[in-house]
Amino acid sequence: MSPVRAVLGLYRGAPLAVRAHVRVRWATCPMQAVAAAIPAGGRVLEVGCGHGLLANYLALEAASADPRDAAPRQVHGIDIDGPKIEAARRAGVASGASFSATAPGLLPNGPWHAVAIVDVLYLLSEAHQRDLLRACAAALAPGGVLVVKEMSPSPRWKAAWNKFQETLAVRLLAITEGGGGFTFLPPEMLAGWMTDDGLSVSHRDLHKGYPHPHHLVVGKKIASAG
Ligand SMILES: C[S@@+](CC[C@H](N)C(=O)[O-])C[C@H]1O[C@@H](n2cnc3c(N)ncnc32)[C@H](O)[C@@H]1O
Repeated sequence: MSPVRAVLGLYRGAPLAVRAHVRVRWATCPMQAVAAAIPAGGRVLEVGCGHGLLANYLALEAASADPRDAAPRQVHGIDIDGPKIEAARRAGVASGASFSATAPGLLPNGPWHAVAIVDVLYLLSEAHQRDLLRACAAALAPGGVLVVKEMSPSPRWKAAWNKFQETLAVRLLAITEGGGGFTFLPPEMLAGWMTDDGLSVSHRDLHKGYPHPHHLVVGKKIASAG
């Protein structure tokens, strides 16, 4: 079975709300494009993994890869939301990914060959976004990658639609933990910070075919950088 079909199957025993959430999430977020930026082997950390959809997908992809290709990929997801981590952990029994609940701003010990952050930064203040990216860059092994998927403030109509949905999710339905406000920063700003942190950075939009302004920023740690 392909990892795409398999990952949704991992949640078969989960409550209806979780099953519905991961299906909608998979359909509306370009997870495979994010996954394509993650190396095939090594230690991978996902920060703010929610129900563990990407982390579990990455673990399943590794399980279906040719074992001669690379060192095995080991995936760990963290989140501040205990019940989501519990759902991720249950699904992770079959994928091989591991999960732990964390306090905001804390990262498990590196070094990591990849750190992924998908739709988390906008829930943090600008200062906390800066701190988290700096900490993630510092935790990378030489040659490791920091993969950030966020919502861009443009195109403006997609950004407005996204903000409306997020207001429902965070403020009214309480599906997502967050401080209450949203801080959508231009991808160029995130890319500039990551460059300052010693990464070689590229970014591109991923919103074609989606109603949301998805944007991917990828920074690779230059081998000689601190
Ligand atoms: C919109 S959800 C995205 C979840 C997952 N990354 C995905 O793509 O499906 C944002 C997640 O970030 C988590 N979160 C918010 N602030 C965080 C922080 N400081 N550290 C770790 N996770 C955080 C929330 O609990 C929530 O699960």
